Amino acid sequence: MRIAVLVSGGGTNLQAIIDGVKDNTIKNTEICLVYSNNPKAYALTRAQEAGIDTAVISPKEFEKRDDFNEALFRLLTETAPDLIVLAGCLVVIPQKVVEAFRNRIINIHPSLIPSFCGTGYYGLGVHEKVLERGARVSGATVHFVDEGTDTGPIILQKPVMVRDDDTPETLQKRIMKEAEWKLLPMAINLIATGKVKVEDGKAVISGYDDEILPGLF
Ligand code: GRF
Repeated sequence: MRIAVLVSGGGTNLQAIIDGVKDNTIKNTEICLVYSNNPKAYALTRAQEAGIDTAVISPKEFEKRDDFNEALFRLLTETAPDLIVLAGCLVVIPQKVVEAFRNRIINIHPSLIPSFCGTGYYGLGVHEKVLERGARVSGATVHFVDEGTDTGPIILQKPVMVRDDDTPETLQKRIMKEAEWKLLPMAINLIATGKVKVEDGKAVISGYDDEILPGLF
């Protein structure tokens, strides 16, 4: 399976994917492209160090959003990956891309969807809102991308307990370490090994109860 990973920032989730491909915990997978909207993203350095092709297209290069969307669509259709992985990608995926890659785009979100998600919930802000609300549990979710914001079929989730002494930063870090860096490689491996399908708007994973769930803890 050829995957394109879309990033905007530090790329710790990208690194987890690179490591998983290398040590074969993600089977049958090759990263064919890392795309960033942000030319300064450290994720690009991680990709280059791993010898992976990179591309940068910033919306700032274009006067009209439609022209940026078209350039991104062209890049992705020309690359023709089997799966697109949003790993901390802050660009809103154009509708044309969602349609062309239906059930072939996944995203990692740092909360338990449907809590603390949707428009405006990204980055540290997600964890700030969890703490403001006094929630006792948060976590991460990997889901397929559809036309909405964080509304597509859920593939994997993992809870992480909130501590009284958490700051947005400490919670963010713990969720990454305990949940995100495990869930995203795991979801890619499940897709690469043909274990995930979408039925009636829900992701169905073969062997979930017996093989996958125990491995999450
Ligand atoms: C992660 O928290 C991810 O869940 C969110 O953006 C952050 C990206 O971090 N979508 P990194 O660039 O992978 O380090």
